[in-house]
Amino acid sequence: TATGAQASPAARTTGVGRPHSLVFDKTAYTLRTAVLPSADGGTKEVTYRFYAPTTYVTDPLDAAHQSLVISVPVAIDGRKVNTERAPIVFANWVGGYFPVSVAEATGVGEGIMEMPNGQVLENNGNDTNLPKLALAAGYVVVEPGARGRTLVDGEGVYYGTAPAVIVDLKAAVRYLRANKGLVPGDTDRIVSTGTSAGGAMSALLGASGDSPLYAGHLRQLGAADASDAVFAAAAWCPITDLEHADMAYEWCWGEAQLSSTGTLVDQNLSRELRAAFAEYQASLRVDGLGGFGRLSARNYDDYLLKTYLQPAATAHLSGLSSDARSAYLADRPAIQWNGKRASFTWDAYLAHMGGRNKNVPSFDGFGLTTGENNLFGKGTVSARHFTRYGLDHDTTGLGADRLDKDIPETLALMNPMHFIRRRHAGRSRHWWIRLGTSDPHTSLTVVGNLAASLSGLGDHVNSAMYWDAGHATNRDPAAFLRWIAEVTG
Ligand code: DHB
Repeated sequence: TATGAQASPAARTTGVGRPHSLVFDKTAYTLRTAVLPSADGGTKEVTYRFYAPTTYVTDPLDAAHQSLVISVPVAIDGRKVNTERAPIVFANWVGGYFPVSVAEATGVGEGIMEMPNGQVLENNGNDTNLPKLALAAGYVVVEPGARGRTLVDGEGVYYGTAPAVIVDLKAAVRYLRANKGLVPGDTDRIVSTGTSAGGAMSALLGASGDSPLYAGHLRQLGAADASDAVFAAAAWCPITDLEHADMAYEWCWGEAQLSSTGTLVDQNLSRELRAAFAEYQASLRVDGLGGFGRLSARNYDDYLLKTYLQPAATAHLSGLSSDARSAYLADRPAIQWNGKRASFTWDAYLAHMGGRNKNVPSFDGFGLTTGENNLFGKGTVSARHFTRYGLDHDTTGLGADRLDKDIPETLALMNPMHFIRRRHAGRSRHWWIRLGTSDPHTSLTVVGNLAASLSGLGDHVNSAMYWDAGHATNRDPAAFLRWIAEVTG
């Protein structure tokens, strides 16, 4: 066909990738009616305008990924909805730092995450389709695609590795804000959401609003000249603070069994990393929520128990019938119930939660085989080290004595903590942070530090854990959707 080898089938059929003015065409929608799940567990019949995939930069490298779709509720169960000033839920589908695409979406909640070998994962492995729930709750929903770590062009160049994903998401936000008054909903009330790698990116969008550090990258793509700050950010199990994730992982799960084998990982490596975590945690100078005081490697277990784990167990057990609760407790003698509250020790929690799912080190693998090694690939190099510790233990025969020169800046561009530690003024002031207590994909301190640091800056932080919930769980979408109304109202 005339469109050339680079264009995907989607690009040929949807108009994605045509020269783009970045002016939103508010007449370019199809009216759709669908029965959608609602956050209360029921369904709603929703009539909505669906705006087909549109490219959000003038010079896309890959329009099939650098495009977004918009859904605007018109009527819900037969009642008209006024979305003139409705908050915009900006729901990214990123997972695993893989590419995500909405180029073939024909309705709300159809973004896909592209896994290796041509596999796709709908719903980002999540148990909740938040875009559908948000639309059924009356919000305008924007779903952006974005480049991801596995994309390679015809010359073998990795063009979706860090910081591509955050640059794309920022460009998408800028597209919306540049079209204030044309795009349905209130572009000053954008609420970002995401899970896991997508949660990391949502937190980063929230933390880094309007940072000049991204200007060059954004200019290169022809991103709109507008704010990329978001009003509020929500993150479920964010896999973030990657340069400190190995040490944090060993502090948290170092003495937990590897779930695949039932054995412990190399305790010498684990101990070294734990020692590094103690230094890192001290350097953060962050106080725990609820007047806990300065957080350290020595008291963080106690902090997590009191602030997150025991309250999560208490909430879960309070919600059970007394028969179900008795049965649960009978099988788990290490969990105490005093009639009102659950309590247990850190060791009991570790034994209970199912163990670690990553070897040591978890993120910067000595053999360059982790997803994060690929995330920090560059040019034709598919995977690189991004920590001193990983480089020093390299087993691939690199023979390098220092990290590549661009790594420190790339790490900063990918890490919300970089901006939070500098009290970045363009950040969101409203935060929703959630994590399952049986999710070993990263250390619990990642969420702990994110929430505590933001709260320390005076931001409004709503953080909690879900008891016995695994990775990518969303147990309280109804509460989240109500929270949006509260903070934007
Ligand atoms: C995700 C999970 C991981 O374990 C990880 O290292 C990065 C991302 C995810 O589910 O998005």
